[in-house]
Amino acid sequence: MKRPTTIEPARGKLAVLLPGLGAVATTFIAGVALARRNLGSPVGSLTQLGTIRLGKRTEKRSPKISDFVPLAQLDDLEFGAWDLFEDDAYASAAHSHVLRPEHLEAVKEALSAIKPMRAVFYPEYVRRLHGTHVKTGASKADMVAQLRHDIRTFIRDRGCDRAVAVWCGSTEIYTHANGVHETPEAFEAALAKSDPTITNSQMYAWALLKERVPFANGSPNLAVDFPAAWELAREYRVPIAGKDFKTGQTLMKTIIAPGLKSRMLGIRGWYSTNILGNRDGEVLDDPDSFRTKEVSKLSVLENILQPQLHPDLYGNLVHKVRIDYYPPRGDDKEGWDNIDLFGWLGYPMQMKINFLCRDSILAAPIVLDLVLFLDLARRAGMHGIQEWLSFYFKSPMHAPEVNAEHDLFIQHKKLKNTLRWMMGEEPLTHLGNEYYQ
Ligand SMILES: NC(=O)c1ccc[n+]([C@@H]2O[C@H](COP(=O)([O-])OP(=O)(O)OC[C@H]3O[C@@H](n4cnc5c(N)ncnc54)[C@H](O)[C@@H]3O)[C@@H](O)[C@H]2O)c1
Repeated sequence: MKRPTTIEPARGKLAVLLPGLGAVATTFIAGVALARRNLGSPVGSLTQLGTIRLGKRTEKRSPKISDFVPLAQLDDLEFGAWDLFEDDAYASAAHSHVLRPEHLEAVKEALSAIKPMRAVFYPEYVRRLHGTHVKTGASKADMVAQLRHDIRTFIRDRGCDRAVAVWCGSTEIYTHANGVHETPEAFEAALAKSDPTITNSQMYAWALLKERVPFANGSPNLAVDFPAAWELAREYRVPIAGKDFKTGQTLMKTIIAPGLKSRMLGIRGWYSTNILGNRDGEVLDDPDSFRTKEVSKLSVLENILQPQLHPDLYGNLVHKVRIDYYPPRGDDKEGWDNIDLFGWLGYPMQMKINFLCRDSILAAPIVLDLVLFLDLARRAGMHGIQEWLSFYFKSPMHAPEVNAEHDLFIQHKKLKNTLRWMMGEEPLTHLGNEYYQ
């Protein structure tokens, strides 16, 4: 891809369209509303708090990312959502029990004003949910047409200049791409026939791409990760990214595994289990939805450890992932990892990690960064899969001819080098030998 010569300024309002107005979406919206009023700090967000080093270390240039690249301002975000439950963002946030009442009450008015549009919801893809706030239509093509109408109406009525979407809806049952997902023509023909292998999230993604709205996928659903969608995104010049927000246990895995590997320490087994009690946990209690999540979580270690290059260290690794729905915990997930590793002469060691995290608190800043970076990418003329946003995902989308990059530190370098490259600054190699010559 050619380096952008100009980046359109972030003028006017940016519509932020969220299929799924549950725990993550409402924690994100409430956090932005609080940050706008200086009532909360957007901790965890690179676009709000991160800095970026430019040039040599001796130049001491490390501006804030938000001063370096032209991002939309928090005040310019205009939120819209779809959900199969009628609850407005305040009611949904209260039901999610993520934020404390003092935070919710402070932004009650702003949250109550966000009422979800009717969802496209065929229940066979998410069997644990039963909502009534849904669209009816003659076919899946008709559903896509209704979503496109929603998107255009929202942008027009709210006076927005442009839009970005992030899927914050539930995890669907495990599905594979097949022939109908191969080309845009095949996909559209299959939509008209309401093909059963086209899921809810794929209909949203298709409608958004057709409206040239950049789309990020926070769940492990295929949504926008199939050949026809990649092609449409290229053809319509829309940036896309996914899949599955990298938050609790997998975030830790992609921090620790590269560290152990960089020291050439061996790993025999990695057992991960966690409990959570929110609606996401309830949906994942269905084995077919869990399968989608499991595939997303399992791919991480193999890619980082490269057992094909290091069979003695990682060739026989046993990797297990469990998730148990345990209602008393709500959104406060608890994860346990047991790592069986070995060192010099093969002597065994163990490491135990007990992470008491908060799912939506970790996911909300990711949503914000994806919104602002995808909008930036679009204004810079970048389109198709945005691999530089892999940093935010458990199962990063990538070109078919290369592996996904899972190592958080490589992902971080890639993200920052992409920002430098966009703005005509030298990418950093961290070689640094010029200081010693
Ligand atoms: N919280 C995290 O740390 C985290 C991490 C990685 C991925 N995710 C993923 O993010 C997504 C959201 O998580 P959450 O905790 O907010 O879940 P949630 O259950 O609280 O919210 C999901 C919302 O999506 C709605 N929904 C489902 N299908 C829909 C459809 N077809 N159209 C419109 N709305 C629909 C549900 O009614 C629900 O309100 C899930 O897929 C989850 O797996 C979350």
